[in-house]
Amino acid sequence: MAVVHTKPIPNPSPLTSLRALRAILRDRSVLAGMQVFHAETGDVFRLSLPGFNPVVLVGAEATHFILTKARHDLRWRIDDDPITKLLIHGVLVEDGDSHDQIRRSLNPALHRNMLSKYEDAMLRRTDQIIDAWTDTQPVDMLVEMRKAALLILMDALFHVDYTPEMERLWHSVLNLIGFISPGLWLVWKNAPRPGYRQARALMDEYLLRIIRLHREHLDDPDDMISFLIKAGMSDELIRDQLMTMLIAGHDTSTAMLAWSLYLLGAHPEAQARAREEIDQELNGAAPNAVNTLQLRYLQQIIDETLRLYPPIHLGSRVAAVDLEFDGFAIPKETRVLYSIFLTHRHPDYWERPNDFDPDHFSPENKHKREHYMFLPFGGGPRNCIGMAFAQVETRIVLARILQRFRLEQRGHAVHLHMGATLEPRPGVWIQPYSRLSKGNTYG
Ligand code: HEM
Repeated sequence: MAVVHTKPIPNPSPLTSLRALRAILRDRSVLAGMQVFHAETGDVFRLSLPGFNPVVLVGAEATHFILTKARHDLRWRIDDDPITKLLIHGVLVEDGDSHDQIRRSLNPALHRNMLSKYEDAMLRRTDQIIDAWTDTQPVDMLVEMRKAALLILMDALFHVDYTPEMERLWHSVLNLIGFISPGLWLVWKNAPRPGYRQARALMDEYLLRIIRLHREHLDDPDDMISFLIKAGMSDELIRDQLMTMLIAGHDTSTAMLAWSLYLLGAHPEAQARAREEIDQELNGAAPNAVNTLQLRYLQQIIDETLRLYPPIHLGSRVAAVDLEFDGFAIPKETRVLYSIFLTHRHPDYWERPNDFDPDHFSPENKHKREHYMFLPFGGGPRNCIGMAFAQVETRIVLARILQRFRLEQRGHAVHLHMGATLEPRPGVWIQPYSRLSKGNTYG
């Protein structure tokens, strides 16, 4: 019988761990430490925290392995994790047939051919937020973009106006996001979670109320809730999907938009070039799903933002069976993390990987979008179901902002905060200056 020799998964040495700690303190981000581990240990390594020892996989081959090859041998649902407690039977935490069935019911509302129906809501809600901006008051784009993303998601997918709830539910939304963010619970399962119960109850009550209203007026064929009702789901199962959409669908876009605006503020020349392109290609017309496809340079900025600051910077799984990757044995029940962040900054794929350079996505570098080197929306059959929605939303929101405003950076340096998504903290302070005074009019 052939004996298969497997290599042990490397643990970073004490010296590497010390260097990682220094990088964490310098950059105020755990991800800086992960970069040190990756540089010194390679594409497969283990993290060693008390009670939390995941294997981290990096790079195109590893992510392809996780997302397609070994997909059926990995579980998404981890019963003890806060995300499962929050989403219960949401598509994101289900496995096997149950996942596939729910995903099929969600697909129609997020299909590409629905996007033209959502573009009005995306524009209208962006204008609702940016109409309040003045030339004399800087704004925190992390907050502004959260408001825009919430309004857009609720309007486009659920056909409800979230404006009256924004203030009432603001802290509940933030609490739920905090609940699923990495924290003390990783090493102390029963760590206290102040405010969660109440936040959850308020959100449940709100979501169940809009589901009931939809049941009473089931006359809207294009609405996600109506699709789910027609699929025969119970109110509770629909609530789990709406909670999933609400969290996965707005916190990601918030981070993505805030980071884009941060980079546009930090790179005035890139901002000016993107604005010129918008003026030239749209010629004052309102941005929509189709005309924003002409904005090639803006798309390069968006992709470069997603490369440097992928809102979902890692995926988490558990090995359902003993696995082997590249000669490394990964025993059953091991927690496996695939790192989008480290893959996006892999020195084998990207020149000057930590620098902002939209030319990383120039036409001659097109192939980098493929082959799992660039995977901000994951990959394989369980890639992001909201990808098309998010792509159009991002183009419309950013094109509209640049069409109407010139942005000047204010305030402090930001650091990468690992919340439920990767966020620019403490916020992105920008002074917007209206361009209307220069005689522009917009559609
Ligand atoms: C810039 C915006 C977004 C980014 C970067 C993003 C990223 C991702 C990534 C990386 C995954 C896969 C995670 C993994 O493999 O572990 C994912 C899955 C998912 N995303 Fe997104 N997402 C975005 C927007 C959205 C939106 C707008 C929605 C909903 C309207 C959404 C809903 C979901 C859901 C439900 C899943 C789980 C799919 C499944 O398991 O079948 N996302 N997303």
